[in-house]
Amino acid sequence: MDGPSGSGKSSVSRGVARALGLRYLDTGAMYRAMTWWMLRQGVDLADPAAVAARCGEPRIESGTDPDAPTIHVDGVDVAGPIREAAVTAAVSAVAAVPEVRVRLVALQREIAGTGDIVLEGRDIGTVVCPDATVKVYLTASAEARARRRSAEVAGSTVAAQQEAMARRDALDSTRKTDPLSMAAGAVELDTTALSLDEVIAEVLRLVAERRSSE
Ligand code: DC
Repeated sequence: MDGPSGSGKSSVSRGVARALGLRYLDTGAMYRAMTWWMLRQGVDLADPAAVAARCGEPRIESGTDPDAPTIHVDGVDVAGPIREAAVTAAVSAVAAVPEVRVRLVALQREIAGTGDIVLEGRDIGTVVCPDATVKVYLTASAEARARRRSAEVAGSTVAAQQEAMARRDALDSTRKTDPLSMAAGAVELDTTALSLDEVIAEVLRLVAERRSSE
């Protein structure tokens, strides 16, 4: 499941995993966890070489229960801190560093390799799991995405969210390594006018269709 921020990836992925009894992995949380650790270590995030040099150090562990996904760095629960504004503002820079991606993609493949799973991110269909049974690319209008994100973040306005998301999406889509893009064979789903349940139902339909033709 790939797509820009606010397209509904997390809610849809978790709902699909729950319905199918599968595990779930939020790969964005891993990039956020790496960013949280870099900030705490005082690494200069404007210096990709400094980020590359340290990115092998933190132990990042993801729990894959769709009802209670967890994320720990060196044993510390960082589920709350990784959603804070400082991490959100810095994560695109860290995620653009090739060495960071090599390390996290390897971890993601290791987790995905142990059984059926729903992964969400930006490069799942293109890089992490190019042979996935079903690839979905979720989109939504910029305004709908900003509205959803603003409802999740206390004290934020739709306009401020839209601006911050546009900046992050531009960085995520134009970076040299594994930019956000639709994978070959992916089904694009525009969620602007759909409810969460409608999107989940559509993805479940796609899974059933693919599984029956395998
Ligand atoms: O999905 P999210 O907003 O939590 O993702 C945080 C950042 O991590 C996002 O700006 C892009 C990056 N990311 C990535 O580069 N590749 C992924 N597979 C997932 C996220």
